[in-house]
Amino acid sequence: MRHEYDFLVIGSGIAGLSYALKVADHGKVLIITKAEAEESNTKYAQGGIAGVLHGPDTFEKHVQDTLESGAGLCDEKIVRMVVTEGADRIREIIEWGTRFDKNKEGEYDLVMEGGHSEYRVLHYKDRTGNEIERALLESIRNHPNISLNTHYFALDLITQHHLGEEVSRSSGGIKCFGAYALNLESGNVETILSRVCMVATGGAGHIYRTTTNPAIATGDGIAMVYRAKGLVRDMEFIQFHPTALYEPGKHPAFLISEAVRGEGAILRTSDGNDFMKKYDERGSLAPRDIVARAIDNEMKIRGDEHVLLDCIGIDTKDFASHFPTILEKCLKEGIDPSKDMIPVAPAAHYICGGIAVDEWSRTSIEGLYASGECAGTGLHGGNRLASNSLLEALVFSHRASIKSIENASNTEFNQSVPDWNAEGTTQPNEMILITQNLNELQSVMSNYVGIVRSSQRLKRAIDRLRILYGETEALYERTVVSPALCELRNMITVAYLIVKFAMARKESIGLHYSTDFAPQKS
Ligand code: FAD
Ligand code: SIN
Repeated sequence: MRHEYDFLVIGSGIAGLSYALKVADHGKVLIITKAEAEESNTKYAQGGIAGVLHGPDTFEKHVQDTLESGAGLCDEKIVRMVVTEGADRIREIIEWGTRFDKNKEGEYDLVMEGGHSEYRVLHYKDRTGNEIERALLESIRNHPNISLNTHYFALDLITQHHLGEEVSRSSGGIKCFGAYALNLESGNVETILSRVCMVATGGAGHIYRTTTNPAIATGDGIAMVYRAKGLVRDMEFIQFHPTALYEPGKHPAFLISEAVRGEGAILRTSDGNDFMKKYDERGSLAPRDIVARAIDNEMKIRGDEHVLLDCIGIDTKDFASHFPTILEKCLKEGIDPSKDMIPVAPAAHYICGGIAVDEWSRTSIEGLYASGECAGTGLHGGNRLASNSLLEALVFSHRASIKSIENASNTEFNQSVPDWNAEGTTQPNEMILITQNLNELQSVMSNYVGIVRSSQRLKRAIDRLRILYGETEALYERTVVSPALCELRNMITVAYLIVKFAMARKESIGLHYSTDFAPQKS
């Protein structure tokens, strides 16, 4: 089956949906997404969205906090752009129906998170992402120019490579003509031709054993762009959230929002010691890289598998109204936060780098844009400031829409694209090989490419990844495509890129901490 759409959007999180709404008055839009419409990292965002809507906070303070958190590696021009344009983008999603909590005075109830010097995070209870996703999906469904195909798995971006031409990463000149997608209901691979394509496929948390990300976060977009010979950046900076609920073996791990620490919760070791002041004067609200590393260190020194989050000082009513989801989960697990401390440990949470884009969200491939967690914009530098990612997605999707509309008006569909070639492949008879390789991948990344790294551990990781890559590619060549196999393949590619970038960075900075290099700055 072949389709033609002016705009193809891969992914239905905040980046994909907000982009689709902006381009939809200028042509036919198809959004494809591999699971249910709302399933995304966006849906699980708890803390909120950072933004400066009014005083006493200022754009400058938000800029400085972002730069400091990024350990000197942010692109300052991008930081200023996102912070200043972000306010209008937040107002826009409010106009589209997103609700944020207000205080008794009727003003937005702003909360604090790690690394912020002001109360500036807008939220809807502890379900901010779910609320944004709800409002955006409602608008999408009401727009006559937008089709949303769920359970469509994007396999590969279509470029000159599929027309039998040579393409190379260094020479440029690569064009995107659309994507091949597996319709999970029919089992057929369909050809989707587009004038412009937006990759908004989110993060890659599942390359680690413990992650806060839902199962969709397998780095597909980053891997697809890399395979298409596009550029990626900042891949070594993987953010571990300091406080995931400690539940061994649980996928994904349940997040205990940083906003809980913003309301006064304190991190303690098992003997009750408030250890964070030893590492940073901001204590439990220091930036994430510092807190996660401190927890990791305390756990290693003491041989503990978690630390404790003490919320006992927070007013019970306030806790219940601000954090209903967290409260419900804790009570279900037999933890009453008004009396018991919550066992927490770090979990892989966010990829700061990704597909390299410019300030208009343009990738190195013509006609191809990327936005949201899969994009490497330069905003986050070595460590993302909490609640800056939803903001980044809105700003970059908006900017992408401006250039995409121009782009679509002067681009024709490429009719010479062939359909998917499945010749020589057979149904898989050993799915267990995929599961085994996935388990191995997650072990390699968790053991050797975690919060604390070393050159020796990275070398071990790359050696093992090469074996996994070889085995998985061989399986891919002879097997009918399936989401499990494609995701494994994508995760191996993303893991490989993370390790390669980490090996190339000969210093400890931000989220990349190596025992072989004395820390410059954290
Ligand atoms: P996503 O929302 O992840 O959407 C990706 C979409 O792509 C999904 O629809 C997925 O199904 C689809 N997709 C992926 N691969 C394919 C494929 N091959 N084919 C078709 N479709 C595909 N950030 C904040 O700023 N504030 C917060 O409070 C916050 N809290 C968080 C809490 C949790 C538990 C998590 C996991 C993240 C949190 N983050 C937060 C980070 C933030 O939620 C994400 O970075 C952001 O939502 C990413 O949006 P996105 O649109 O780029 O990707
Ligand atoms: C949280 O609520 O702690 C997550 C915020 C974020 O990842 O930006």
